[in-house]
Amino acid sequence: MTGPSPEIDTHSGIETTGHEWDGIKELNNPLPRWWLFIFWATVAVAIVYWVLMPAWPALPGLQGNTTGVWGQSDRADVAADTAAMQAERATLSAKLASRDATSILQDHELSQLALSLGESAFGDNCATCHGAGGRGAKGYPRLADDVWLWGGSLDEIEQTIRVGIRSGHTETRLSEMPAFGRDEFLTAGQITDLVELVTSVSGRDADAAATARARPIFEEQCSSCHGVDAHGDRSKGVPNLTDADWLYGGDRETIHRTIYGPRYGVMPAWSERLDPAKVRALAIYVHSLGGGE
Ligand code: HEC
Ligand code: HEC
Repeated sequence: MTGPSPEIDTHSGIETTGHEWDGIKELNNPLPRWWLFIFWATVAVAIVYWVLMPAWPALPGLQGNTTGVWGQSDRADVAADTAAMQAERATLSAKLASRDATSILQDHELSQLALSLGESAFGDNCATCHGAGGRGAKGYPRLADDVWLWGGSLDEIEQTIRVGIRSGHTETRLSEMPAFGRDEFLTAGQITDLVELVTSVSGRDADAAATARARPIFEEQCSSCHGVDAHGDRSKGVPNLTDADWLYGGDRETIHRTIYGPRYGVMPAWSERLDPAKVRALAIYVHSLGGGE
């Protein structure tokens, strides 16, 4: 079929498309070569890509997508990376569990791992009671200082974490100060006198007459645990009464309440909830907080 021969623009000598707006005619220039080259190159790259890489959704009725000749899969890569990481963790955990804490501390890489594992486990399990960074709260001892109820060596800390305190674990750390008031071992007057004595041994002004009256009662009722000099006894988790560090508080009212009826704070046992590596890492972390012995 032959149409009308194309009009040639007299000014440029190039044929027109026949389109005209207000006397302005559109010239029919061929596409530049460089543009065509890039166009066909991108088409070629796309086709090669479809062949090699996962690209097209599967045909109706089939699952997933075309997998490509290379079978590349981000999901598989992530799974492989995760498996490798877990294997590495398992090896390190086995090392943490099988070596004693002191030898772990001598190994730089292992001790760094223990500290970071311990810190995150502490945030997950311990900070609710002991506060962030082990700063403590009323009834929950500060773990970041060098005052210890049960002992601040790596082994002692690990033991406390494993078995807990009044936890019900068969080996739990256990000590129970009698409820001198509630169970009527002492009279109200004797307890008030003892409050003055405790106030005085912790270095503050107290009623001298009451303190003197309380001295023999303390020796008889309290010294077996707290010691004659009131310095406490770590083998029974008994606090030192002469320092400024209080588990429950050093004001007279709180001291009175403790002597009247102690609270028997409970520290859960962790040996059944956390694996041995984590317990060891926690002991190393707590030890590092500032008061480790
Ligand atoms: C439910 C609250 C609670 C949680 C959770 C808890 N503790 Fe305790 N923890 C206590 C109490 C209460 C005591 C003090 C008990 C007492 O009166 O002797 C204690 C004591 C301790 C001690 C002994 C401190 C000393 O002076 O000897 C250590 C160490 C300790 N906790 C570490 C931990 C670690 C590590 C964790 C997390 C795995 C943890 N605790 C979680 C309540 C808790
Ligand atoms: C069987 C051992 C035992 C005997 C006896 C005992 N205590 Fe205690 N005392 C403890 C323990 C353990 C604690 C730690 C807190 C707890 O158990 O609730 C404690 C805590 C205290 C506290 C609180 C310290 C703090 O840091 O808040 C005071 C005060 C105290 N005792 C005074 C006395 C006085 C006074 C007597 C004698 C009338 C006495 N205790 C007899 C074991 C004993």
